[in-house]
Amino acid sequence: MDSQMAATTDDAQMVLKVPFVIGVAGGTASGKTTVCDMIISQLQNQRVVLISQEAFYHPLTAEQLEKVHEHNFDHPDAFNTELLLSCMEELKHGRGINIPNYDFKLHRSVEPARVVIYSSSLAKYFKLMLHVNPSDVIILDGILILHDPRLRDFMNMKIFVDSDSDVRLARRIRRDTVERNRNILNVLDQYSKHVKPGFEDFIHPTKKYADVIIPRGADNDVAIDLIVQHIRTKLGQHDLCKIYSNVFVIQSTFQI
Ligand code: ADP
Ligand code: C5P
Repeated sequence: MDSQMAATTDDAQMVLKVPFVIGVAGGTASGKTTVCDMIISQLQNQRVVLISQEAFYHPLTAEQLEKVHEHNFDHPDAFNTELLLSCMEELKHGRGINIPNYDFKLHRSVEPARVVIYSSSLAKYFKLMLHVNPSDVIILDGILILHDPRLRDFMNMKIFVDSDSDVRLARRIRRDTVERNRNILNVLDQYSKHVKPGFEDFIHPTKKYADVIIPRGADNDVAIDLIVQHIRTKLGQHDLCKIYSNVFVIQSTFQI
């Protein structure tokens, strides 16, 4: 037992562990989610949660839905960043949160398969939400996750997944037509009108904030191994930097 833990136990103080927060940005279909899955699969014995920025898209009004092909989903204003910030504040203080369960076919939140309902009066609201427990590691994944400085301030590590734009477009066409039932002409139109300009104007400029840039995304095993090693090292140190508080969560030092 380290000295800090001993002091904590002796004083019968309660300890709240601060989560290690990782932001993973990159263009559409760059492999962000695949990279996150690979990192998570190597972080055994940790409580890890992946939160996608897509959950925080503003729901479209009926009028916007009628002209959905014109809607710009690649602009910072498309997201409810205030809600994401308040969720991060809660998680940082060890409290669970509810996040919207976004559906790309319907462009809005839908009822998840498993729901947590806290109050009958709020049941309708929470039915569209997924519950996220406090975790040791929080991974935030999204095209514009490094855009807002207040979000970057929550992060202990920032990653930019850098894949070739032709490869990304090919994956995007496949995904949108096969998995999201979209018409290829609409996909190409959206790409040239919003996705490509959004990448150039807002997403690519956030690369400068990254601590690590991963060329070739999930194909880059070496980069992913190095990132996992770094996270493990930092988690070991991180565990020593506890916040002492009078709240209710007690956690012991974990082993990697
Ligand atoms: P993002 O989260 O950046 O949008 P995803 O990880 O969801 O990207 O990947 C988009 C699509 O490309 C998915 O269908 C995924 O399976 C595929 N994909 C991602 N990385 C690779 C890779 N290295 N090789 C082949 N296909 C990949
Ligand atoms: O998974 P990925 O990072 O590609 O998700 C972001 C992309 O999803 C954006 O480029 C945006 O154009 C697209 N999107 C969409 N329809 C929505 C929401 C987002 O095509 N309803």
